[in-house]
Formats: sequence, C-alpha cells, structure tokens
Amino acid sequence: MPRDLVQGLKSTSSSLLQSFATEDTCSIYILSLTDEVGLPRCNYADPSTWPFARFGNRFQASGPLQHWEQQHAVSYWLQRDIRASGLATTDRLSADIVYVDSHCQEQARMGWYFNTLPGRRNGSITEREWPMEERIRGAMRYIQTWPQWRRTNGKRFVLTPFWPNVPTATKTAMVPCTSEAFMLAGVHAQFCRPGQALAAGQGMLLPFVSELPNNGPGPLFDHQRDIFLFYHGGCAVPDPARARAFSWGKLQRRQVVDALAAIGAPDIDVGCACDICNGSMPHNVTVERMQRSVFCTVLAGDAQTSRRQAESVVSGCIPVYVGPGFHTLPFGDAVDHASFSLFFRVRQYGWVVKDRPASLNNRLIASTWYLDAKIAPEAIVEVDTIRDIEAHLRALPAEQVAAKQAALAANFHYFSYKPLPGQKVSGPGQLVLRQLCRRAQAIRASVSRPRPPPPGRRPLHSDAN
Ligand SMILES: *[C@@H]1O[C@H](CO)[C@@H](O)[C@H](O)[C@H]1NC(C)=O
Ligand SMILES: *[C@@H]1O[C@H](CO)[C@@H](O)[C@H](O)[C@H]1NC(C)=O
Ligand SMILES: *[C@@H]1O[C@H](CO)[C@@H](O)[C@H](O)[C@H]1NC(C)=O
Repeated sequence: MPRDLVQGLKSTSSSLLQSFATEDTCSIYILSLTDEVGLPRCNYADPSTWPFARFGNRFQASGPLQHWEQQHAVSYWLQRDIRASGLATTDRLSADIVYVDSHCQEQARMGWYFNTLPGRRNGSITEREWPMEERIRGAMRYIQTWPQWRRTNGKRFVLTPFWPNVPTATKTAMVPCTSEAFMLAGVHAQFCRPGQALAAGQGMLLPFVSELPNNGPGPLFDHQRDIFLFYHGGCAVPDPARARAFSWGKLQRRQVVDALAAIGAPDIDVGCACDICNGSMPHNVTVERMQRSVFCTVLAGDAQTSRRQAESVVSGCIPVYVGPGFHTLPFGDAVDHASFSLFFRVRQYGWVVKDRPASLNNRLIASTWYLDAKIAPEAIVEVDTIRDIEAHLRALPAEQVAAKQAALAANFHYFSYKPLPGQKVSGPGQLVLRQLCRRAQAIRASVSRPRPPPPGRRPLHSDAN
C-alpha cells in the first residue's frame, strides 16, 4: 500500500481507509494507444490537432485551454494518479490491471470536431466521423486478440471513453458489451446494461475536469457568499418553434433560468449562453461567481452530465439537482451526495419531449437519466413548479445550510482531479484506484495466475503473436 494513498485516505475518511486497508495492493500498467499500439502522436502545438491554446479562445476557458484542462480529460488525470500512487508497473504481462490511456485520441477528436464545425454545419464536410475513429477501433480489436485480454474476457482492462457523445461504434470497440472490461464513463447511457454500473461490475461514472485549483477545504467558506442562487450555461433558444431542435436538458435549462429570473431577486444570478456563444459569461467570471454563491443548480445538457457539477462542488456551492431527467452523480457508491446536495422533483415541467425519436430527446432519456446514487426518497423534495424550489431554499434553516457546507468541505476533493495540498493522489484517483485494486483481488481469486515471465526484457507484444 503506497504511503501517500494511506495518508490521503487517513486525512479524508477513516471508513474509506478501513475498506482500502483490507484490500491487497495491486499493480497497474498504463498502456498508451499512441506509443505501443501505433496510433499517431498528438502534437498539441499544432492547431489542427489542438485549436484551443490560442489567445482569445473561449472554449471552456477565458484564455488558452491546455489539453489536460479540457473538461473530458479524465484519462490524463487518472494515468497521472496511477503514477503518483506508486501502483504503476512497467511490466504489462504481469500487471493486475491494464489501464488504456486514450487521452491523446480523446483530445484530438475534440480538436477535429471544433476545427470542422463550420464545414460540418454547411455540409461541405460530410464524413460523420473523424478519420482516426476507425484506427482507434482497429487498435482495440488488436488488443482484444491478446491472450491477456482473452484469458479474462477483458476483465483486467480499464478504458475511459469518457466523452458522453463518443461514437457508439468506438465505445463498443473499446468496451464490447460481450466483454468484462471496466469502463470509466460520463453517463449511464454508455453502459451496456442499466442499473448501478459499479455494483454490476461494469464501471464507474466520473466527474468532469474543472480548472479550479485545490487549496484544501479551508478557503471554501472563509468568505461571505453574496449570491443566493447561481446558474449560467448553454440553453435552448426561447422561441418554442426553434427550441424543438434542442435536447431535453437544454430545454430544462431554459425553463429553469427563465422561471428563476422571473422572480426578479437581486441575489439570483442566472443566464443562458454557451461558452462560445455571443453574450456568454467569461469562464473565469462564472467560476468566480460560483465561489460567491450559496446554491448552484446542476442541470443536464445535451448529455446527462456537465462540468458545472464539478465546478459547483469544488467552489463550495451547494449543488441543487432538478428533475425529472436528473444529472449524473459520480461515485454514488462511495460518496454521500445527499449530505451536501439538494434534489428537487418538479411536478409541472415542459422539457420532456417524447415525439422526436431521431432527435436528442429520444426515449432513451427517460430510461437512462435516473438518479444513480442511493438517494433516499425522503431526500428528494417534490415541488409543483421551479419557483417553489427558490421558496424552499429560502426557507432552509441556517444550520441545515451550514451542515451541507460542512459536508461539501469534507467531500469536495472527490470532484477535483488536483490532489489536496500535501497529497499526491486526487480524490477521484483514490476512489478509482481502490476499485481497481478490489477488482484485481477478485481476478486473483478467480483465475490461476499465468506463469511469471522469464527474466530479462521481453518485447511488449510477445504474447500477441
Ligand atoms: C463551408 O465552410 C467551409 C469552412 O468554413 C468553407 O471553407 C466552405 O467554403 C463552405 N462551403 C460552402 C458551400 O459554403
Ligand atoms: C457574434 O458576434 C459577432 C461579432 O459581433 C458576429 O459577427 C457574429 O455573427 C455573432 N454570432 C452569432 C451567432 O450571433
Ligand atoms: C477574467 O479574465 C480576463 C482576461 O484574462 C481578466 O481581464 C478578468 O479580470 C478576469 N476576471 C476574473 C473575475 O477573474
């Protein structure tokens, strides 16, 4: 057990430490699709790969955005945690777990989608998909021929097709539904079977990457919070005819923002504009205001998840979830979301549109946008209208708000891929690594270990020939 991990767990939660300490340690090999399986390297200095580092870029940032800061860059941060934890091994063949690092491919895909947006909009670029997509699938098919994959039907392999809109064919190539590979995903819909993904051994839901620093819980509540309720994000357009082209989540955002704005209270700060849209709030102003806010609504968008969640938690702003059509709750098995969040189910809503089977509002939403943590029914407040949410929040006793804030201070680091001061492994990394070591232990118990490799270096793909 690496000392850092033990220290990290000691300072966060004694029950977590206990459950980790009873597990064996494990070894994790980081398999790079770039270096070892032959996909091209990412030159992030090249704008055709990474267009977001230019000055004046507004994509998820108010200045240049580096590839590790991109909101879906979880593959980068987790490989960093594996190295920092001391669990990394340089011998793939004897590794308990093989972590497939797809960071470069995931980021280059973002660049391609962004660079080709005008052409895809006017139809001059007709490929539905990035040319690299098929090569990723080919690399995965190759990995799946390895005896190391086949012996346990992929159970030792961990993949992070985290972007909720990753093409289904790529997601399926990375984690075939017939396999037992472990998936670190963004939304329920990515899993092959509905239900509690972790309990079923399928994988885990992770939070988005936020750019906020992790200075420990101290600074979170050392200041007055002058904004009562905050939300800014991309929404559906107000015109109902044109709004029909928008997703369920974007329609919900529009209705929540409009209803809260109509209250007209000076301490309610809500608005609709995506970060690259005209009139949007600069990203640094958005997070600065979240750090000044008591409550932040957390609403799904085109997918069931968003970076607003991680930003809200890491800002010390109490997350307020509104459904039906609930945002995901990462780490629902390990983190007590109800201790620091609020959940409202609205009875009168107009954002669920079921008459467009081919659109973003397909029937899948109704079956996949459910609350994934074990949220007790009494933790969900039923209200008639969105306006009632504000009234409920205003009526909360101060000690209940303070209790939520104390729970936020104890849990916020599970939403930051930057470790707490003095620690080497981030909160998400601790939870993921604990799970991977448990998995390794289960595999150890269920399969006889392959014979140890002979001494001396062996070519990496020797078992694939
Ligand atoms: C479509 O957009 C691309 C990229 O902006 C541009 O180069 C091309 O001329 C446009 N084509 C048409 C038919 O408008
Ligand atoms: C945004 O503003 C710029 C500059 O004022 C303008 O050229 C552009 O057309 C606007 N875009 C949209 C989508 O309104
Ligand atoms: C946001 O960034 C801009 C440009 O770098 C800067 O001028 C502004 O002061 C920043 N605002 C906040 C609240 O950090």
